[in-house]
Amino acid sequence: MEVPPTLVEKARTARSITVLTGAGMSAESGLPTFRDAQTGLWARYDPMTLATPEAWREDPALVWAWYQKRGAMLQTAEPNAGHLALATWSKFQDIRIVTQNVDDLHERAGSTNVIHVHGSLLTPYCDSCHTPYPADVEEPTGERVPPPKCACGGLIRPGVVWFGEMLPEDAFARAIDAAQRCDLMIVVGTSGIVYPAAGLAQLAQSNGASVAEINPAETEASSQVDIRWRATAATALPALLAQVNP
Ligand code: OAD
Repeated sequence: MEVPPTLVEKARTARSITVLTGAGMSAESGLPTFRDAQTGLWARYDPMTLATPEAWREDPALVWAWYQKRGAMLQTAEPNAGHLALATWSKFQDIRIVTQNVDDLHERAGSTNVIHVHGSLLTPYCDSCHTPYPADVEEPTGERVPPPKCACGGLIRPGVVWFGEMLPEDAFARAIDAAQRCDLMIVVGTSGIVYPAAGLAQLAQSNGASVAEINPAETEASSQVDIRWRATAATALPALLAQVNP
């Protein structure tokens, strides 16, 4: 597979690399993306009925069952060659991974430098007192499953960020730091339309970093990045790693 030579050069010489990942990173692990026509989650479900605080207030059992279903899917998924390449690469270069994904495939691949800006399927918590609740992902039996209750009486909600909610402050501050400190940002498998996460690439670029995009399709960000590579995460990242560390 042909790796863009400028990307190899930038990667070899970078003092610090930040990798921004989106749903496409986990597509080859069998987890659906959000916006791909036909297979994307939002092609089959309406985000406004599932991924907003209003939806949760309206029908918590529907929302809880949907996230339990995604959690169950995650349990049977495995990190792909792209996740594994990033984990290996982090052993010899300063790499931070900022992910919009709510899965744990980067961690299961062995990465320890992962910042989750949209939360996680594995960190449910009480929506009243915010106490964490142990994740117990069971395949839902129907379209509605009542969420568990906290000792305080509050409902346990998924640990993900919904449309209209603030990003976790600490994680986003670390993501900004990672964007500002890197001299190469590699954007993998994201459509680049959900802000503020999508703004991290512009932030990196305005601080002097080169930005490379790995994505089989054109995105909102394609016209602004320095290097465009039309390839998938699980094929491109191992090929890049092999060139950087032959
Ligand atoms: P999207 O579904 O919007 O975009 C997925 C991107 O992955 C698209 O640009 C695809 O072309 C690309 N893609 C598909 N297969 C790929 C592969 N094998 N390798 C590399 N790229 C591939 O997902 P996100 O950009 O992650 O937010 O979506 C951003 C946010 O919107 C999500 O975090 C979620 C969603 O609503 C919240 O839940 C808050």
